[in-house]
Amino acid sequence: MSEGIRKRAAPSLTTSSNHRHEEKSDANVVMEKEQRRYFIKILFGAVTLCYILCVILMYTSPATRELIIYLHPLKNPFQNLSNPVSFGLPANTVNFYISGPAGKLGAWNILSINSVEKQDFSQANKHFNLKDDKPIILYLHGNAHTRGAGHRVQLYKVLRSLGYHVITIDYRGLIEDGMAAMRWIRTRISNAPVFIWGHSLGSGVAGGVAKALCDEAPFTSVWEGATSHFITLPFRFLPYFKETVLDEIKDVFRTDLRIADVYCPILILHDRDDHILSIELGKKLYESAKSTRRLDAGAVKFIEFHGHGHNDIFQSDRLPGILRDFIKTR
Ligand SMILES: *[C@@H]1O[C@H](CO)[C@@H](O)[C@H](O)[C@H]1NC(C)=O
Repeated sequence: MSEGIRKRAAPSLTTSSNHRHEEKSDANVVMEKEQRRYFIKILFGAVTLCYILCVILMYTSPATRELIIYLHPLKNPFQNLSNPVSFGLPANTVNFYISGPAGKLGAWNILSINSVEKQDFSQANKHFNLKDDKPIILYLHGNAHTRGAGHRVQLYKVLRSLGYHVITIDYRGLIEDGMAAMRWIRTRISNAPVFIWGHSLGSGVAGGVAKALCDEAPFTSVWEGATSHFITLPFRFLPYFKETVLDEIKDVFRTDLRIADVYCPILILHDRDDHILSIELGKKLYESAKSTRRLDAGAVKFIEFHGHGHNDIFQSDRLPGILRDFIKTR
């Protein structure tokens, strides 16, 4: 403070040339301020324009809708998904494609740690492991990035270490893609039990697939996280947003309504420190499952974790025991 006063006081004691200098710098300050104001205006204008553009696109184009909500093109361009080993997965992991309604879905078949045989990549039976009756987990990831995202790969490693095979796909976040993957698995297994693991938005897809397929044959789903994603927050208040934009994907967001018709056993895992989807949503889903499912529907379990946030339940020491219990009791 005192220094500021000294600075301001000093020029008044000096010559007129210094005085001019001071006027100039005053003008500079005013210009800078104006520039800053101008810059803020431009920034504000750009953000508003982007937002309006997003809104228009969301109302008019289904493809953009999917894109904005699921962010599926968001990925690291330097990663090569055809090479699972570069993600730290074992060499016998099979990279393959499942044809779905939207074209080819990239997928990995990650073998259980107990599969000693070598994969014969050149042969038609490169998915022989699916016939060995070990539990198979179809993993449906949440929005953004790919099946190769770090926390997803860490979870696959936990699952394979427990003796399960993992099939994980890249998809648009739609139930029909999950269905395509499930059908693909079913035509290749003998008696293996199949579990669907949905994380975050993927749990909504898992619910949709479970509802559609439970009646055909019993299987089980594991839901990690719940529905109602923060990504729709900036748009939710718009008129008819729910009806227009969320309509075709509302199945994904309304797991709480659909869970009544899921007849297979359900395990819900949620972390208290999940700052993306509050644990209250998971609890609500659990309560709704308990009160709306018919009596002969499979068991529903809710397990609370803490300290692992939205993505990192794989770190929990309790997870292996919980999964073993659940998969054994189906
Ligand atoms: C990705 O990996 C596959 C399998 O290792 C390899 O054949 C292919 O050339 C790689 N692609 C790029 C762009 O590096």
